[in-house]
Amino acid sequence: MSNNISSNDINKAREVIYKIAGIYLPPSKDSTIKNRLDILKRKLGIQDFEAFFNQVRVGQFKQEFINAFTTNKTDFFREGFHFEDMLNRILPHRLRDSEPLKVYCSASSTGEEPYSIATTLLYAKDIYRSSTPVSVLATDIDTSVLEFAKKGKYLVNTKLNPLPNWLDLKDYFEMRHKSENEVFMDAKQNLKNILTFKQHNLYDARYPFGVKEFDIIFCRNVLIYFKVSDQEQILSKMFSHLKIGGTLYLGHSESILNLASKVDRLGKNTFIKIMD
Ligand SMILES: C[S@@+](CC[C@H](N)C(=O)[O-])C[C@H]1O[C@@H](n2cnc3c(N)ncnc32)[C@H](O)[C@@H]1O
Repeated sequence: MSNNISSNDINKAREVIYKIAGIYLPPSKDSTIKNRLDILKRKLGIQDFEAFFNQVRVGQFKQEFINAFTTNKTDFFREGFHFEDMLNRILPHRLRDSEPLKVYCSASSTGEEPYSIATTLLYAKDIYRSSTPVSVLATDIDTSVLEFAKKGKYLVNTKLNPLPNWLDLKDYFEMRHKSENEVFMDAKQNLKNILTFKQHNLYDARYPFGVKEFDIIFCRNVLIYFKVSDQEQILSKMFSHLKIGGTLYLGHSESILNLASKVDRLGKNTFIKIMD
């Protein structure tokens, strides 16, 4: 431990981030907590963590504190089979229906996931010659990643994040090579038009969405940051906003938990809602 971040500070940080965001950082993550407190300390000039946590509790620096404790790792078309499942199983018939199709991306981070969803939707509309209105609501608790995502500008290392070859991304992004393996991607207006970014805390008691509002929900690689009992509560709340017959996608190491009896499992963490 460094001289001025004590184990008491680490325990307080664990308690406060859990209370605000439901993010549970067990003792095995103590060095992560310490690093993040170190960064905050330098950024905000914190002298006394006791006083700082009291300020966070009453709302001051609360957002800076949250932003410092999120983990935002993401990629374009990550776990790509979910986008192919949307394209090949859901959209061919759903896009024949004129009712607007709504997708919810519940932990959108820097935006690569919702832009991948939006790209898949526009591509599907094109190949299935559909005029069904489509939209993606993307939320996250972290305001810094939301601001980044709204810009829609990325530098992608295609060796680390291979891009799909089943669609032409140039229809949706201005693409400019920086080097052999690096490409600047700038989302075009047609893509931005169907995307809305908003802040939402999945740990909140209520979600500001309509009952059964969404056809598809992406809830990937975020439940892992919560305790199992909280994961169950989050899944239940989210599920009430999914239509019967709608699809829920979870991340590769996440589980359907208490909803198991209410879904059909298609494999690869793809679930169809069969009852409330
Ligand atoms: C690892 S990223 C996952 C990004 C994307 N879903 C993916 O699979 O690539 C996890 C995201 O969850 C967000 N997050 C953590 N706790 C949250 C909460 N209580 N409410 C909403 N978002 C949260 C973080 O800010 C972060 O951007």
